[in-house]
Amino acid sequence: MNTLNVPLGTRSYQIHIGSGALTQPELFSVHLQKGAVCIITDDRVGPLYLAKLEQALAAFEPRSVAVPNGERHKNWRTLDMVFRFLLKNGFGRDATLVALGGGVIGDLTGFGAACYQRGIAYLQVPTTLLAQVDAAIGGKTAINHVYGKNMIGAFHQPRAVVVDPGTLVTLEPRELSSGLAEVIKYGLIADEDLFLWLEGHVQELLDRDLPALNHAINRCCEIKAAVVAEDEQEQGRRALLNLGHTFGHAIERALGYGEWLHGEAVAAGIAMAAEVSVRMDWLKPAEYRRICRLVERAGLPNRPPAAVTPGQFLEYMQRDKKVRQGRQRLVLPKGIGQAVVSDDFDADALADTLTHKPL
Ligand code: GLY
Repeated sequence: MNTLNVPLGTRSYQIHIGSGALTQPELFSVHLQKGAVCIITDDRVGPLYLAKLEQALAAFEPRSVAVPNGERHKNWRTLDMVFRFLLKNGFGRDATLVALGGGVIGDLTGFGAACYQRGIAYLQVPTTLLAQVDAAIGGKTAINHVYGKNMIGAFHQPRAVVVDPGTLVTLEPRELSSGLAEVIKYGLIADEDLFLWLEGHVQELLDRDLPALNHAINRCCEIKAAVVAEDEQEQGRRALLNLGHTFGHAIERALGYGEWLHGEAVAAGIAMAAEVSVRMDWLKPAEYRRICRLVERAGLPNRPPAAVTPGQFLEYMQRDKKVRQGRQRLVLPKGIGQAVVSDDFDADALADTLTHKPL
């Protein structure tokens, strides 16, 4: 078991990472409040892991709610199901919510915890690679809105994150690849060695080799913890974690939430951001090709869906949370292991990328 710290003063917390973590009561008990415990999960993950977690939390007699699985349910209606359950069953301000599932469940539970009775405690128990390396850490919580992805939300840090890489054995192959998009992102923005390691080990990750998964998860969590500690509310460096997301969120919104998985949209978005960079000579063509190749080897798209028009991209990208005074800001790679957030990019480079002009 490895334990990392997210140092945020009074909101500091630990990330416990290890196979079998899900069944270790002591990893949870110290982080729970005095009141009742409610596990929030979905109808795919619940049948696989809810009984195990209930057993680990047995001393606290947890209740549980299972909501429908999938990004298209990350909305007000599903959140209201959770609020109704909590209110009907008398959960008070001393309650703790436990998010058991992927990024949708973590984001929804975290936002629910941020709002319920003006804020209660919650723990993250992520069961997808994407949530284990990214979504469960850092306190960004949200639901989607018809006008845009993650548009209604709050910063609300969990009391702890318990990562059991053993849960990845049951993850659908598409979901596993989706998580790899975020792993590739970390290499690109912050760690050339991780990117190089991925080029050599991506097949092991796809084959669910546990030591390889452990390595990737630990490194990504280290990077994320450091970035969040430096910039909890995304006033600066944290925005780098959005590499590929401005394009990706536009894809998710345009196709309909859940049509492409979040990581698939982010992967295409990473390739598009890299294309903008290469058009401005911020990235070498050979580096661009390495990025596209790694994305492809991870089982992910490195082109946007043909159905999304340049006009849709521009409309949805303009609603991005990084827009300031109406100016689009993009996260763009500057080599491998380095990226910038910039509003000073060449508009033609973006337009040529959106219209698929040959490089
Ligand atoms: N997923 C990006 C962030 O947490 O900032």
